[in-house]
Amino acid sequence: MRKKVTVVGGGFVGSTTAQRIHDDGLADVVLTDILEDVPAGKALDMAQSATIFGSNSSVMGISTAKGDYSATANSDIVVITAGFPRKPGMSRDDLLKLNYDVVKTVVEQIVKHSPNAILIMVTNPLDAMAQAALHVSKFPKNRVLGMAGVLDSARMSRFVAMELNVSVENINCFVLGGHGDDMVPLTRYSTVAGIPLPELISKEKLDAIVTRTRKGGAEIVNLLKTGSAYYAPSAATVEMVEAILHDKKKILPCAVYLEGEYGIKGLFVGVPVKLGEKGAEEIVQVKLTDAEQAELNKSAASVRELVNVLGI
Ligand code: 2OP
Repeated sequence: MRKKVTVVGGGFVGSTTAQRIHDDGLADVVLTDILEDVPAGKALDMAQSATIFGSNSSVMGISTAKGDYSATANSDIVVITAGFPRKPGMSRDDLLKLNYDVVKTVVEQIVKHSPNAILIMVTNPLDAMAQAALHVSKFPKNRVLGMAGVLDSARMSRFVAMELNVSVENINCFVLGGHGDDMVPLTRYSTVAGIPLPELISKEKLDAIVTRTRKGGAEIVNLLKTGSAYYAPSAATVEMVEAILHDKKKILPCAVYLEGEYGIKGLFVGVPVKLGEKGAEEIVQVKLTDAEQAELNKSAASVRELVNVLGI
């Protein structure tokens, strides 16, 4: 039997995520939105495209305007993208309280209908929203993840590819920390064909890549004017979905609940995680220099501030 993935929120990130999962035939997909007919229309459009390229996954769109989540029942994975998007000039953190209410409502319903699901949080500010999802769902910590490290690392990889004019296939960048302006692009552990970045790029250029990575989301918000990025965020989410559905044991940077790892306790922060059928199966701990640890602590402190505001 094919696996089932629900994507909550039919905006650009949600519908592009649903489309990728459906097109790749990874799972049957349910796309939900509080709008009345839009999710059904998008799902029908996706389903019809499959007759051209031949995906056998099913996709349906349902409105949750009346609070009915029954069509999502028994999902293996639930990706939550619902929430208000960032507008120009707005930080991810401004979204905090607005999106907490959305996430709380959604997670309560998901727990009711898919008590064994793995949750992947995409709604911003996503580290705090992942903490909210863990708090509301009371799921074991391995079943609540936040997507962001994959996205931020993908952005960094692209900037490195542009700088060195090499194939993106050679590049493996690692960005840890919260998905905020003080995320931690780990240049020492980022490689091109196995060669650490500092061996290949001058410090000045590497600093510029780090800065551009940190502002990667805002750069796109400023260009789009009325929304935020969705191609890379959805691709990053689907990489996590695939790693879990196919039990790949793939190590990816993801936001997970730390209980002392990296010296951080009781908080969601992005670190290297082994993803498999149980979700976050292992947190991989690497040695950080004092400077890197200080940056990670700073990033974690920003997440902690948000979580404290929510009182969770
Ligand atoms: C991004 O980084 C909006 O957080 C999202 O593009």
